[in-house]
Amino acid sequence: MPPITDINDLKRLYKRRTPKMFYDYTESGSWTEQTFRENISDFDKIRLRQRIAVDMTGRSTASKMIGEDVSMPVALAPVGSTGMQSADGEIKSARAAAAFGVPYTLSTMSVCSVEAVAEATDKPFWFQLYVMKDRDFTKRMIQRAKDAGCSALVLTLDLQILGQRHKDIKNGLSIPIRPTLGNIIDLSTKWRWMAGMAKTKNRTFGNIVGHIDGISDLSSLSVWAAESFDPQLDWERVKEIKKMWGGPLILKGILDAEDAKMALQVGADAIIVSNHGGRQLDGALSSIRSLSPILDAVNGKCEVYLDSGIRSGQDVLKALAMGADGTFIGRSYIYGLGAMGQKGVTKALEVIHKELDTTMALCGRRDVHTLDRSNLLIPKNFEGEWQD
Ligand code: FNR
Repeated sequence: MPPITDINDLKRLYKRRTPKMFYDYTESGSWTEQTFRENISDFDKIRLRQRIAVDMTGRSTASKMIGEDVSMPVALAPVGSTGMQSADGEIKSARAAAAFGVPYTLSTMSVCSVEAVAEATDKPFWFQLYVMKDRDFTKRMIQRAKDAGCSALVLTLDLQILGQRHKDIKNGLSIPIRPTLGNIIDLSTKWRWMAGMAKTKNRTFGNIVGHIDGISDLSSLSVWAAESFDPQLDWERVKEIKKMWGGPLILKGILDAEDAKMALQVGADAIIVSNHGGRQLDGALSSIRSLSPILDAVNGKCEVYLDSGIRSGQDVLKALAMGADGTFIGRSYIYGLGAMGQKGVTKALEVIHKELDTTMALCGRRDVHTLDRSNLLIPKNFEGEWQD
C-alpha cells in the first residue's frame, strides 16, 4: 500500500473498507448538498501569503481550548454511530485523541456508552448532548456524563429536527444492517469490518438502550430516535441545562451573529460556528464565511471555535488566522477510523498537524497564536453582501 499522505488517501481507503451505507451516512449533506460542498470550496477561496527569510526554528502549535492544554487547537467533533464505522470506534477515537493531546467529543448517539468510553480511556473527554423530549433522560444523561468525568458539555442546538439526507433514505440506513441482497453483497467485501464487529458487544446506541423505558431493542430505537429530539428546545432550556451541568459549556451550531449574542447572554464558555457539516439547513452559508460577523458580535467575550469543511491543516490555519480560537474536525477523522481504526485516527491527526505546522512556517509564523488575517488573502466580499 502506498504511504498515506493526506486526508483524501484515508477517505479512499475508508470507502473500500466500510459498508456502503455507513460511508454514505458520513459522506452526505442534506437536500442538494450545497452547504456541504461550499463548506469545503469556500476554504479553497482563501489563499495564503508566503513570507520568506523568517527564522522558523522552535515552532509551536500548542494552545488551549476552554482552558485545557491541546497540542494543536483541533478537537474531534461528536459523530453519531461512530462505533458502526469501525468496531468500538468511539473508544479508538478517544484513545487516539488522548495520545495526540487533543479533545475528543462523544456524541449522545454514540455506539459505545459514555461509561464504556470512560472505562477504556484515562483522560477526560467532552460529552455532546442532544436534548430529548424526555426530560428525565436528559437529566440522567448529564449526570452520567459528570460521573464519567467528562470535562465539558457540548450542547448541540442545530438539530431539533433532522435535515433530510437522501442517501440514508435510499440506502434504508439501519442499525443493525438489514440482510437485503445488496447489503449481503456489500458486506462480503468488507471482511475487516465484519471481523471487528463480530468481536465487540458494542453494536447499539449505548447511551440510550437500557436507559429509557420501552427501549430495549433496536427496531423500536430507530423510531424513538426520529421522534425524540425536543423541538421545543429554546434559550430558556439552554439556561436550565447550563445550571444542571455546572461545568464548562460549549454551544454548537451557531451560524448567525444574533444567535452568538444569545449564546453570550446564557453564559456559554465557548461556541462552535457550525452548520453540522452541511447536514442540517441546506442553503445556509459555509461556516468559514459565517465566522467574521460572529467574531465581531462576540467581541472576545467567549471562545469561538469552528467546524464544517476542514479537510487539512491548511484549513485549520485559515480558520485560526480568520480569528477562531480552535477548530473541530468530523469527517476527516472518521475517514481515518474507517480506513485503519485507531491508527487511522492518529494518522488523520498527524497529517493535519504536519500541514498546519509546515504551512505556518511557510507563512512566516512560528506560533499558532500569532496567526492573523495578514497571513491570508481573502477575496473581496468573502462574507457576502446580503439585503437587510
Ligand atoms: C455529525 N455531526 C454531529 N454533531 C453532533 O453534535 N452530534 C452528532 O451526533 C453528530 N453526528 C454526526 C454524524 C456524522 C456522520 C457527521 C459527518 C457529522 C456533526 C459534527 O459534529 C460536525 O459538526 C461536522 O462533522 C463538521 O463538519 P466536517 O468536519 O465533517 O466537514
